[in-house]
Amino acid sequence: MAEILKAVRGMNDLAPEASPLWRATEETIRNLLDRYGYQEIRLPLVEKTELFARGIGEGTDIVEKEMYTFKDLNGELLTLRPEGTAGCVRAGLEHGWFHHQPRRLWYSGPMFRHERPQKGRYRQFHQVGVESFGMGGPDIDAEMIALTYRLWNQLALPIPRLEINTLGGAESRTRYRKKLVEYFTLHENQLDEEAKKRLQTNPLRLLDSKNPDLKPLIDQAPTLEDFLEKSESEHFRHLLNYLDAVGIPYHHNPRLVRGLDYYTKTVFEWITDQLGAQGTICAGGRYDALIEQLGGKPTQAIGFAIGMERVITLLEQQKNPLTNLPLPDAYLIIAGESLRQTALMLAEKIRSELPTLKLVTHCLEGSLKNQMKWADKSGARYALILAEEEMQSRSLSIKDLRHSGTQIQKSWDEVSAFLQSHLV
Ligand code: HAM
Repeated sequence: MAEILKAVRGMNDLAPEASPLWRATEETIRNLLDRYGYQEIRLPLVEKTELFARGIGEGTDIVEKEMYTFKDLNGELLTLRPEGTAGCVRAGLEHGWFHHQPRRLWYSGPMFRHERPQKGRYRQFHQVGVESFGMGGPDIDAEMIALTYRLWNQLALPIPRLEINTLGGAESRTRYRKKLVEYFTLHENQLDEEAKKRLQTNPLRLLDSKNPDLKPLIDQAPTLEDFLEKSESEHFRHLLNYLDAVGIPYHHNPRLVRGLDYYTKTVFEWITDQLGAQGTICAGGRYDALIEQLGGKPTQAIGFAIGMERVITLLEQQKNPLTNLPLPDAYLIIAGESLRQTALMLAEKIRSELPTLKLVTHCLEGSLKNQMKWADKSGARYALILAEEEMQSRSLSIKDLRHSGTQIQKSWDEVSAFLQSHLV
């Protein structure tokens, strides 16, 4: 027998049993985004490599070592998108979406990063990304956080911890970076290899180090707060006041830096301790300089992305009612080869008469008894039976598979009315 090929490591299939929970979750998110006035956009999975290098930053882990980059047949350097913000900004600039108007946009779909796969970390994963443009005040920051908070409540998730910080603007960060480099250079002999590299490429990311030996050194490092402009600290203070006002608990973590270079001012992460090491289920922040950096007019912006696999795993752990499978209402049994054409026509007639009915037809051979077993296994409420006898009397037998077990006969013209009045 030929060898069965396996999927690429870190890239998962969605099983039929798992899709109802994904759909229900996606629908909850979609409805909520509608309520806050966000409009959906759909973006290509592939962009020019340069977009990510310029947008996310050359010195980031993503651009340095995690991108799926290839030359296409024209020799153009392309990359499978590792995230959606850069593509969203590219599309907005290309189509003039940000001209003279505030915008609230969202997108969803797969992202690709060549990371080491483990629970909650995949090479193809799914995000719902939410971005707003042209609004610079802390009120939109607070609104976005409130939206995510409402989402956790609507999904009945245990509320994750909100970690929040401000990174200031480009100038304060440059001043801070200089100070950090001075500090860590002074203690360079205590740094590991990774940290030494980061000291050269991206000193702020040193604060993110997972090495416990570095913790005391990092704890003693200067904090950005002391380097912020007055307007930047004000922005952050107002945001925290707004969060207090709407009753959203947060934890100000001055070491939160994020792994992408485009952030300015507000950054935040929603972190759960129920998923082990990969506990961040949603993350984002302000990126007021990115639009200009990618060739547009200065436009303030903030956004976040939800890691769908992580949210779904949390929901599975909760045994949330969203996990219930949608079952068919009726299962059509066809007892006799010569009856197939009639069965097909009847099924289409019933589907036209009852647009929300879920009707599954038995498209295999099998005795009446065997087909009844399949009907039962499908979880359908009713079995509809077409055998020679029903064919003669232009009727269908209808058996209640769940409650009474009774069987009645209805003419072809009465079947839909019966189902409609008996299915709620
Ligand atoms: P990010 O922090 O790189 O931000 O990713 C956002 C979320 O996607 C993470 O918090 C996590 O839940 C999920 N995620 C990231 N990598 C993986 C992975 N390998 N496997 C599974 N889930 C993963 C961004 O992507 C920004 N574009 C967010 C943003 C939008 N900032 C402003 N606007």
